[in-house]
Amino acid sequence: MNRGSLTWAVRDSLLRYVTVIARGSYQMEGGATVTDDGAFTFPLRNAVHVGNEWRLSFEGSVRFTAHHGFLDVRIADPEIVTGPVDGVLSVRTGDDGTSTTAVAATGAEELGRDGTDIVWTANLHLLETGVELFGGVYPVGTDLAPLNIRASLDS
Ligand code: HEM
Repeated sequence: MNRGSLTWAVRDSLLRYVTVIARGSYQMEGGATVTDDGAFTFPLRNAVHVGNEWRLSFEGSVRFTAHHGFLDVRIADPEIVTGPVDGVLSVRTGDDGTSTTAVAATGAEELGRDGTDIVWTANLHLLETGVELFGGVYPVGTDLAPLNIRASLDS
């Protein structure tokens, strides 16, 4: 069985904005949890390696709500696809979770290895397609929180 997780704070200032400045809250579902320092952890669902491309799919969701529902940002089932050109993080968004949005990109870094485990930290920046998710507040290219992955793969 594959085991692992993706840990991501989205953007370091976001959680503080939602909970302290906007006096909102966040809810997690589907196995997502939060670390003491405010990063969200999503369990690994699937890992596929084809040629020099990896597709790592995680499950669970976090939903930020504030401003009496005007702010409603749902991030579900993150998936990272990384290959020789770049890495792209996509998430499901919206109530029904049916639309998939490419949120952030990273450079073409090799996935790190620790024995048979994959360990990987990547710096992310916001893609054009992800701008709307955050209400247009962060411009394209904004640095997001780094992504951390650890996964134990059987094969
Ligand atoms: C009644 C409506 C809203 C009000 C009064 C409001 C107010 C504000 C204020 C004052 C800030 C600056 C906070 C600071 O000091 O850093 C801010 C930042 C921000 N707002 Fe709103 N906002 C509203 C709605 C929204 C909506 C609908 C979204 C959609 C996602 C949103 C997303 C953000 C984001 C992402 C930031 C930047 C947070 C950070 O990283 O620092 N806001 N907002």
